Amino acid sequence: MAADDQRIVAAIVVAAGWGERLGSGGPKAFVAVAGRTLLEHATEPFRTHRRVRDVILVAPANLTASAAELVPSATVVPGGRTRQESVARGLAALADDVELVLVHDVARAFVPPAVLDRVLQALDAGAAAVVPVVPVTDTIRAYSAGTNELGATVDRSSLRAVQTPQGFSRATLDAAHAGADPDATDDASLVEAIGGQVVAVRGAEEAFKVTVPLDLARAEAVAARG
Ligand code: C5P
Repeated sequence: MAADDQRIVAAIVVAAGWGERLGSGGPKAFVAVAGRTLLEHATEPFRTHRRVRDVILVAPANLTASAAELVPSATVVPGGRTRQESVARGLAALADDVELVLVHDVARAFVPPAVLDRVLQALDAGAAAVVPVVPVTDTIRAYSAGTNELGATVDRSSLRAVQTPQGFSRATLDAAHAGADPDATDDASLVEAIGGQVVAVRGAEEAFKVTVPLDLARAEAVAARG
């Protein structure tokens, strides 16, 4: 095995979702912000990071050729039915010598390189699974949709919102995805489900998830700041 900071890193950027809530009438990855698709924005910090050798782009099955045209340096593979299946397909496409994997959602198209640095530093320091997190700004309460009743207010100082890229030793991520719940929405929870430990590092506001139409205005503002 290579020295801890010499291990070969690959990124899997999952972009095979439709992004219904954005209402753009097509896959979110191909929506343009500041003249470039989210696909191009989201892959850039990985394509240009000195520690990341390979980028695997998981695209909608009918749009792999367009994705490859937009990001020629990436290996493009078709996505699955759920996010978990798409990540698993990305994992299956990794080169044999890759030891560390960053898994990133295309919807978090503006993650600053410093977040990649922090995730990789934690992996280099020995963590097997790392997630970037940010404080929660809203007051959060339990809620019962059936009765429309509010429950207790949760102490938000004890909460963190989880972002991507999440970083893993490849062996840990492979084990977590073997027999995983196909509806799992993040990879760190799959690691915990097999008894693994997850370390948190500081995320970034700019790594917000482009989900609803208003997020596009915020994305334009972040892109304009460069
Ligand atoms: O739907 P959601 O916003 O949770 O999706 C998170 C990420 O997973 C997005 O980047 C989306 O493109 C990706 N995804 C995928 N394949 C699916 C569903 C979602 O790559 N079948």
